[in-house]
Amino acid sequence: MTPAEARSRFPVLDRCAYLNAGSVGPLSRRTAEAMRVVEERALAEGRASPRAQEASGALWTRLGERLAALVRVPVENLLLTTSTTEGCNLVVTGLRLEPEHEVVTTDAEHPGLLQPLLASGARIRQARVLERPPSEALNAVLAEVTPRTRLVALSHVLWLNGHVLPLAEIKRATGLPLLVDGAQSVGAVPVDASVADWYTVSGQKWLCGPELTGALYVAEPDRLRPQIQSYAATALTGAGRLALVHLPASLAAGLLAAVEELPGWGFRRAAELVRRCRQALLELGAEVRTEPEQATLVSFRVPGDPAALVKQAEGKGVIIRSLPDGWLRASVGWWNDEQDLDRLAEVVAEARSPSG
Ligand SMILES: Cc1ncc(COP(=O)(O)O)c(C=O)c1O
Repeated sequence: MTPAEARSRFPVLDRCAYLNAGSVGPLSRRTAEAMRVVEERALAEGRASPRAQEASGALWTRLGERLAALVRVPVENLLLTTSTTEGCNLVVTGLRLEPEHEVVTTDAEHPGLLQPLLASGARIRQARVLERPPSEALNAVLAEVTPRTRLVALSHVLWLNGHVLPLAEIKRATGLPLLVDGAQSVGAVPVDASVADWYTVSGQKWLCGPELTGALYVAEPDRLRPQIQSYAATALTGAGRLALVHLPASLAAGLLAAVEELPGWGFRRAAELVRRCRQALLELGAEVRTEPEQATLVSFRVPGDPAALVKQAEGKGVIIRSLPDGWLRASVGWWNDEQDLDRLAEVVAEARSPSG
C-alpha cells in the first residue's frame, strides 16, 4: 500500500487537511464499514444470538492479539477498555493509595490521568517538565521522588507540547511502579509498553478507531486490588479479569479494522511529515515549543486569538486545535501528506500578516 492509497481510505482527507488525531483520528471507510456490518448482523440475527456471541468472542480475541503485538506485550497482560481515562482509573483505584502516599506526575498531564490521581487522595507532586527540554525530564521527575512515593504516573508523549518522556530511564532510575498514559503515543510512534507496569491505549486517536475504545497493559494483574469489578472478574483469566465493560462488537470490529490498516511504513512517514511541519512553522516565524525529533504533535503560537485561528483554519479546510494554555496544536499522522502541511502553512502565514 502506497501513502497515496492509504490516504485515499479516509474520506475526510478528500476535503480537509485533517490535523487533529491528537483529539480524535480520521475514520477510514473500511473501519466505518466493519462497524456497519456488525450492526446490520445485529439487526438481522439478534444481538445475542449464539452466532453473534461467537463472532463477538472471536473479535475480542483477535483485537486483543493485535493490540498486544502492537505494543509488544503478552496478550494475557492486556485488557480492552473504553479509554485511557478508564485505564488510569482502574490502576489508580486498584492501588488503594492513602493520604500519606505520594504520586509523582508532571505539570503537563491531561485530565484523563490527572483527575484519577487527584481523586485518589494521595499527595500529588508534579515534576516541572512543560517549560523544559525533554532531556531535563528525567531529573525533573527524580527531584520529586521521596521515600513516600508509591507511584510514578505520566504520559509517554505530552499532549501539550508533544515531548517524549524517557520511560525506560525513569523506570530504571526510580525503580518505582510506573503508570504510563499512552493516549498520544500508541499508533503515533513505536511503543514497547513492557517498560511500564501499566500502560494505557486510546483507540480513537492515532489508531483511527471508533470513540470509546482502548486497552490497558498490566504487568502483574494480582498487584492491583480492584475497587470496581464486573462480570469479567468471574470469567476471564490474566489482566482480562480487571475489565469493566464488554466492548460492543461493532466498536471492537471498528478498532480491529483500523489497527489492521496501520501500514508498516506508518511511523517513519509520520516522523518525516512532522519534521517538515515543524520546520515550515519555524520558517513562517511561528513560535514552536516542540523540540525536534519528538513524536507526532507540534505545538506552536502566532499572535492573535488561538480559538479564532482554529475557526479560521476550519473555514479553509484545515483542522487543528487550540490548547487550554493558549497554544495551538497540529497532529501529523501517516495519513497526511505534504499538501496538508502546505495548507496549514497558508493559514499560519495569513495569521502572521492578516492584511497581506
Ligand atoms: C495525554 C492524554 N491522556 C488522556 C487523554 C484522554 O484519552 P481518552 O479519551 O482515551 O480517555 C487524552 C486525550 O486527549 C490525552 O491527550
